[in-house]
Amino acid sequence: MDSERLARIQRRFAEFGQEYAALPLYGAVARAVADDAEAASLLLVARPGQARPVLWFAALHDLVLRHPDLPAARWYASVVGREHLPPGDPWPEIRETAMGHRAELTDLMATRSTQTNEVNRSVYLAAGLALAAADGPHRPGVPGPIALVELGASAGLLLGIDRYDIELESGTGTTQLGRSGSPVRCRGLDRSRPPLHGLTLPPVEGRAGVDLHPVRLDDADAVRWLMACLWPDVPGRVERFVAARDLMLVDPPHVVEGDMLDAMPSAVSSARAGSHPDAHVVVFSSWALSYVAPERRADLAAAMDLLSRDVAELSWLTAEPAGCAPGVEQAETGRVGAGGTVLGLRRWRSGRERPPVALGTCHPHGEWLDLHRA
Ligand SMILES: C[S@@+](CC[C@H](N)C(=O)[O-])C[C@H]1O[C@@H](n2cnc3c(N)ncnc32)[C@H](O)[C@@H]1O
Repeated sequence: MDSERLARIQRRFAEFGQEYAALPLYGAVARAVADDAEAASLLLVARPGQARPVLWFAALHDLVLRHPDLPAARWYASVVGREHLPPGDPWPEIRETAMGHRAELTDLMATRSTQTNEVNRSVYLAAGLALAAADGPHRPGVPGPIALVELGASAGLLLGIDRYDIELESGTGTTQLGRSGSPVRCRGLDRSRPPLHGLTLPPVEGRAGVDLHPVRLDDADAVRWLMACLWPDVPGRVERFVAARDLMLVDPPHVVEGDMLDAMPSAVSSARAGSHPDAHVVVFSSWALSYVAPERRADLAAAMDLLSRDVAELSWLTAEPAGCAPGVEQAETGRVGAGGTVLGLRRWRSGRERPPVALGTCHPHGEWLDLHRA
């Protein structure tokens, strides 16, 4: 039984190594683990459905973040800094560290699952918020304020969107959203035709999130695990996470613990409490609705409809895999590659719903977007 499972695990490492061959650390290590039954076998302790290379990588990353003096640590940009990464083959030292710390690693692999809070998703969230607010009341050049609610918020880092410096770059110029000069820099390529010039981020007056397992920004262990789940090979990813954590730690958003359907009303109340009573309420989810059973997603849609009776200006913005967001036209589906993200928008204005729109598609981490105006 274990030998079949181990073979499956090794196959997954081989596939990972092929798919991410360009990553100098994770690509090389995945290929090595695929041929090393002893190293791969650490994952046998994982809970059902969790025996994936990303869990193995996260456990080892967590270990070197805790013990930066271990031999493997010098291969991690998150530990030594990107400019100090050595050339050569990381596997001998990675293996030595992994095999020398089996007990700690298997403890993590047996009890944890991977979780993310990807700050660069601010690129599509910012564009989506600007497009969602486009039909609302504007002071000259400035959309009205919003109360922002994120379902599946993790540590709530996306709720700090207006504190980040976000740039959409197209062949014909750059659109800047958020706080210019912020230490948290989010960047995405604007492939939209025509480009999304002239977008303005609405002022975020109130903010709150919901998550089944919220990560408190002052919980060093939990935040380190969230960081360990990031891939240190991808330039900017860990650095952006650390900058956002430092910035948001000063004034962390409230993230209610609970299921998104059950706890949504409480998060909406909390975000509205910090806003003008007429603020546009925007409920957002990014790669979270996909974890919810389809019938619960339909219940969430019904709950939004109910909420529209109390909120004059309500939007539901979804950044999810194709087919996830109820009511959003899936015409874009054919153009969305594996892992692609559809940005969907549903709007209720004075209790009546406008036709739902698929605003377009995005890279899952906001590296590019291809949208149109609603
Ligand atoms: C892939 S993470 C995305 C986090 C964040 N939205 C982002 O884009 O960086 C998905 C998050 O959804 C949360 N989640 C999954 N199912 C949920 C549910 N039914 N209710 C609330 N949160 C849920 C998970 O705990 C996790 O933090």
